[in-house]
Parts: sequence; structure tokens; C-alpha cells
Amino acid sequence: MQSISGDESLHLEFFDSSSLLNPAATKKGGDDPIFAWFKKYLNAKEEGKDAINGTLGSLLLDDGELALNQVVMDSLRNQQGYDMAGYAPLRGIPSFRKLAIDLALGPHRDDIPAEMMSMTTPGGCGALYASARNFADPGSKVLLRDLHWSPYQTILAENGLSSHTYPLWGSGLELAVALEELVSTQSRVLSWLNDPAHNPTGLTLTSEERKQTLNCFIASARSNPSIGHTLLIDAAYHLYASEPFGWAQTLSQVEEWPHNLLILFAISCSKSHTIYGLRTGALVCLHPSEEFLSRVEGVLLHTGRGTWSAPPRLPQIALAEIHAQMKDEWEDQKDTLKALLKRRRVAFNSALEQVGVRPLPNHDGYFAFIECKDPVAVCESCAEENVFLVPLSGGIRVGICAIPASRMKRVASALANALGE
Ligand SMILES: Cc1ncc(COP(=O)(O)O)c(C=O)c1O
Repeated sequence: MQSISGDESLHLEFFDSSSLLNPAATKKGGDDPIFAWFKKYLNAKEEGKDAINGTLGSLLLDDGELALNQVVMDSLRNQQGYDMAGYAPLRGIPSFRKLAIDLALGPHRDDIPAEMMSMTTPGGCGALYASARNFADPGSKVLLRDLHWSPYQTILAENGLSSHTYPLWGSGLELAVALEELVSTQSRVLSWLNDPAHNPTGLTLTSEERKQTLNCFIASARSNPSIGHTLLIDAAYHLYASEPFGWAQTLSQVEEWPHNLLILFAISCSKSHTIYGLRTGALVCLHPSEEFLSRVEGVLLHTGRGTWSAPPRLPQIALAEIHAQMKDEWEDQKDTLKALLKRRRVAFNSALEQVGVRPLPNHDGYFAFIECKDPVAVCESCAEENVFLVPLSGGIRVGICAIPASRMKRVASALANALGE
């Protein structure tokens, strides 16, 4: 923030900020805890400490540099004038929109008994935002698992929504009960499910659990035909999971798709293509009626126009070109990064086992999670040993995406000391 020096500066105590901020805005604020703890790591580094960074959600190489898929970087650099700087169509570049459907469904695309439509969005966040804006009633509750990516709450709040949760761990019964509660008080239900490679735990549902989850939505939709059910699969990390297209496979087994069930995929190219800041993703929509999807297309177009205009052209052009001409080369690099994540996860889990600390079960992706009573105190204690992690509600998020395998023993030892194991 730029500051005005000396006497010109207005002191807040003499100034009622609510005369400028609307009532909803006066409730907003606060630094993201993830960036606040990253800052602590940077400060320790600056002081010359041998600090370990487990704070951010970016895949870093062992030397601390951002891991980049060079096929993507080269294609971005090779684009020319208009494709670098021109507007994209409001719905997105047609070849990228087709690619987004492939990224969501992989080899199961033709087996799913539904029509498909996609709309380019600025990252997965744009897709989540557009779903909140259009498939939930203002003032209503969106169904989440109790442990979820904290910006979900920000996106909901920006749309005048709140959340209703069911446990991350459960028999499936809890989801059925939560749906029952929502359908008895709302005329629409939207649910966000981050799977596979859940942030912040690294959990991936098994094929049986996916089927059970989907069946809960189908059963609720069938029993409540006048209530719209929208299930959004947040696929922010799916291409780093061992079974990237598990949800598509589960959907391919649906028989008699209820008319009041809409399935969405929030596709993010931030991690899969290492273009975090280029804000590229899509909302992929699946429903048996083509006519309905064409209506949804107009709705999403309106939201995009009124919020971000068109998403950037350059990454859409580059990614469409890569997947048409250099898919194998891109995939080789992506798989190298996936293997790096796997090595780190194995090293982390085995280091924790040696010191007797149990993380929540974790399988894929960028993170792992350790439940504890006082996450801030635990992170402060780890920081004294120059290991920087993120305290969240109910536990600690460990960004294994940023920590070399060779340093996992130090992370485990700091955690064991902090937890008194
Ligand atoms: C769970 C989850 N969903 C969605 C996103 C959105 O990613 P982006 O907007 O960068 O595509 C992220 C990014 O960190 C995430 O962790």
C-alpha cells in the first residue's frame, strides 16, 4: 500500500471507514495464513537460517526454484503478437474448451451418458466462483467436507453464501444425512468436492467411495425431483494423482441420470501445466440435456462478462497447441514432476513413522495433514527449528510439494518435538 507522509495522512480513529465501505465489505479482511507463514520462512532465510519451506502450494525443485514444465514454457514463448496480447472469445478459445473436457474426463469421455459443455475460466477459482454465482441461491448453504481448502469460504462469502459440512471421514451415511438436511430447507443444493489429491490432506477417494458419494447425490435427486442438485468435482490436482480420471470412470457407470442432477468439474491448469499465475482453467458441465447445457452456457458467459471479462488468450492457445502436437513431451515432464511428488510423499510418511507421528491417510498431490489441538503453537515450535508449515483449523498442513525428500527427516523431527511425541 502507498502511504502519505506526515500530516497529510488521515488517522483511522478520526475517520469512520464504514462511510466508504459497504456493510459486507466492513466484515472482510485479514491476511491469508498461508502467505503469512511463507513470509516467516522468507524472514528466516534472509537472516541466513537453514530454513525449510513447507508453506506454499507450489511445486518447487530441490533447489527451491519453481518447477516448470519446459514444454509449456517454450510454447508460451513461441506465440506471436495477437495470440499473446489479444482478447480471447468470452467463452474461451474453442480448441481449449475441447481440451478442458479431455482434461476432466480422459479416456472415459465417450462412455459417460451425458452431454458436455465447457467454459474457460480464470483458473479453478474462476470455475468455483461461477458455480457459486449460479447454482446456489444467495443466502443458502453450499455442501463441503469439514476439512477443505480455506479460500472456499472466501469465494462463498463473496457470493453471499455459507457452508454446511459433513466429515471428511465417514461411512457415507453422513453425506446422505447432510443432503437430507439441505433439501429440507433449500430449493437447490450445490456441493464442492476436492478429489482426487485433496488439499490439505492428500486424500484420494477409492472407487467404492466415489460410487457411494455419487449414489448419495443420485438418490437425493431422485427422491426430491423439484430440487436441483449440483456436484462440482474440484480437480485442482487430479493430473498428479495415480488415478486422474477416477471420477469420469465412476460417472460412466451412471444409469438413468436424473434431470435435476448437474455434474461440474472445476479444471485448473495452474499445477498440471505449471502456469499458476496465468489464470487458466474451465468449468466443465455434464447433463443429459443439450438444450439445458446451452442455456447454462449463456448463464456462465454472463457471469464471466460481468466479473473477469474473458480469461487470457495466451495460455489457452499454448495449451491447445501442446495437446494437439506435443502431448507426449508435455506428459513426460508432468510425469517427472509427479514422480518427484511421490518420492517426497514416501520420504515424508516414512520419516513420520520413524518418530511415531501419524498424518491423516494421504495418497496424492501437494499436501499432507497432521491433526492436532493447537496448530499455531505446533507451527511456532517447528519454526523455532526453522521448519515452516501452515496452521489450519484442526491441524497442520505440510506442503510436501515444496520440501526436498532429503529434508523430510528434519520436518518429522520438528513435528515430533512440537507435538511432544
Ligand atoms: C483445492 C483447490 N481448488 C482450487 C484451486 C484453484 O486453483 P487456480 O485458481 O489457481 O486454478 C486450488 C489452488 O490452490 C486448490 O488448492
